[in-house]
Amino acid sequence: MTIFAERVEAEKIGIAQVGNKVRLLGWVQRRRDHGGLIFVDLRDRSGLIQVVFDPEMPDNGFNLAERLRSEFVVSIFGSVKARPEGTVNKNLATGEIEIVAETLDILNSALTPPFYILDNVDVDETVRLKHRYLDLRRPEMQKVFMTRHQVTQIMRNYLDSKGFWEIETPLLQKSSPEGARDFLVPSRVHPGEFYALPQSPQIFKQILMVSGIEKYFQITRCFRDEDLRADRQPEFTQLDIEMSFIEIEDILPIMEEMIRKIFTETAGLTLDEAFPRLTYVEAMERFGSDKPDTRFGMELIDVADLVKDTGFKVFADVIAKGGRVKGICAKGCAGMPRRELDDLGKYVNTYGAKGLAYIVLAAEGIKSPIAKFLSEEQLNLLIKRLAGQTGDILFFVADKSEIVADALGHLRLELAERLGLIPEGQPNFLWVTEFPLLEYDEAEKRYVAMHHMFTSPMDEDVPLLKTEPLKVRAKAYDLVLNGVELGGGSIRIHRREVQEQMFSLIGLSKEEALDKFGYLLDAFDYGTPPHGGIAFGLDRMIMLLTNRENIRDVIAFPKTQSASCLLSRAPSAVTYKQLKELHIRTDNPV
Ligand code: AMO
Ligand code: AMP
Repeated sequence: MTIFAERVEAEKIGIAQVGNKVRLLGWVQRRRDHGGLIFVDLRDRSGLIQVVFDPEMPDNGFNLAERLRSEFVVSIFGSVKARPEGTVNKNLATGEIEIVAETLDILNSALTPPFYILDNVDVDETVRLKHRYLDLRRPEMQKVFMTRHQVTQIMRNYLDSKGFWEIETPLLQKSSPEGARDFLVPSRVHPGEFYALPQSPQIFKQILMVSGIEKYFQITRCFRDEDLRADRQPEFTQLDIEMSFIEIEDILPIMEEMIRKIFTETAGLTLDEAFPRLTYVEAMERFGSDKPDTRFGMELIDVADLVKDTGFKVFADVIAKGGRVKGICAKGCAGMPRRELDDLGKYVNTYGAKGLAYIVLAAEGIKSPIAKFLSEEQLNLLIKRLAGQTGDILFFVADKSEIVADALGHLRLELAERLGLIPEGQPNFLWVTEFPLLEYDEAEKRYVAMHHMFTSPMDEDVPLLKTEPLKVRAKAYDLVLNGVELGGGSIRIHRREVQEQMFSLIGLSKEEALDKFGYLLDAFDYGTPPHGGIAFGLDRMIMLLTNRENIRDVIAFPKTQSASCLLSRAPSAVTYKQLKELHIRTDNPV
């Protein structure tokens, strides 16, 4: 046995071990010299422990200890002692004891790190990412990755217990961009041809159902070349699931049970017996979002009937053109200065709204740029409809339905944030169901699938496919947690002719459909069971579980907002020889 194998982790040592001899391995957090003694806080993955070096130490150990600096890697052998009266550190798990060193080996030295290896360290993220190996040494980061490991462990155990098999699907795939852009990989052996990295394993997992696998899962990387945000990365991890012989009512409870297990076992949280459900229409009507944060009220309320005949032309015109007028009531905001109200107007402009009308219900009377257009009765009806009270502000947006939803939906979130209305702690899960199958893409002048093109329409809406496609609802569902889309899935189309009809609806010609997806259509000809599935964003789940604001904090080696890795400096130029082998010429000189 080597000396390394004797090691005991810091957190395993407590008052019960007093008198024992232990070997510790780890990093020097800090060295302090005083009273003729040297104190070292030693850090390993489990935590911190105090080591004391005495000048009387054998083998010149004390002199060696004087050479210790932060982040040196050491091996220490010593005995566990209770700390003297008055020196117990209640903030430290090992604070009741200390290790009196007998031998010290310096296993490696270290440069002075560019930032302290401490929680809540105030340092620019670019520095953290450049020295990610140091950043990951910080206890809060280690906790994140421990949680991440526990979560995937629970997922695997749970799905195994339900009869799911973990199967890998290819990372080098056929390109068929839809939604996001593909990352392409040039082929050396097929000049001018490319693979694509998967945006998700969607088609292969469906083919696994044709293959009779029945229950599949995979914890896998997905790649999407899209603009990045706080909860998006170009490569991210999905827990991807597919099952045969199921309908929505079969799959949702199985997924809920898994989510409940994860949140209970890693964060000690108890969750609702059955997660509430909202239809897409209800979510959009009440919250202006298909991933509503329902932890607080401030719901969107339709007032079109009350304002259609007022003197305010903007409202009347919008309604005449088939638009909507809705409002929200911001409690206790009447003191908001004019400048802030103007800012909120600009805020809704960014979501396409042309203006933000408001009625301030101040104690000294009503203040509103639109009051002059309203009779007292109309004003009172509006206040009553929105349950406004003295001290509140009522906000209104008139526009096309989608713009009203988007503008007021975001305003609602923004105000809740500013007013501190969002309760912390309790996770709020919600299924959103009955999504529209299609939406109309104005830029491309065609229908596009709202979830994806393999999603099945609801049986009762199938006849509408030919007449009013936008009215067709899909057998699709999203899991929303605190206003974040955590996962999404659907029951799939499993008949060739329905899939072909879908391709044609979204504007794919027969040839294009065959070229891109012929292999799936062919598979459908050979006995495809009804099937469906879901995929969860693992990174987002960990982000919410560990209360992190940014997805980069839960990915060991993430990309920046501009999709680069600051540690390895990817992407980077490659040699002419590499390009030549791949039959590629670039615009940039190499
Ligand atoms: P979807 O595209 O909704 O569905 O993705 C599923 C979940 O993956 C997460 N996610 C992301 N996380 C981080 N960065 C990104 N760029 C990113 N994009 C998506 C989200 C999302 O809910 N094949 C279907 C699933 C299915 O139908 O079974 C799919 O990929 O949490
Ligand atoms: P105006 O008469 O154009 O100055 O508008 C009076 C108020 O109505 C201002 O506070 C505008 O921000 C607001 N307003 C203008 N257009 C809209 C709209 N489409 N929806 C809601 N409020 C609007």
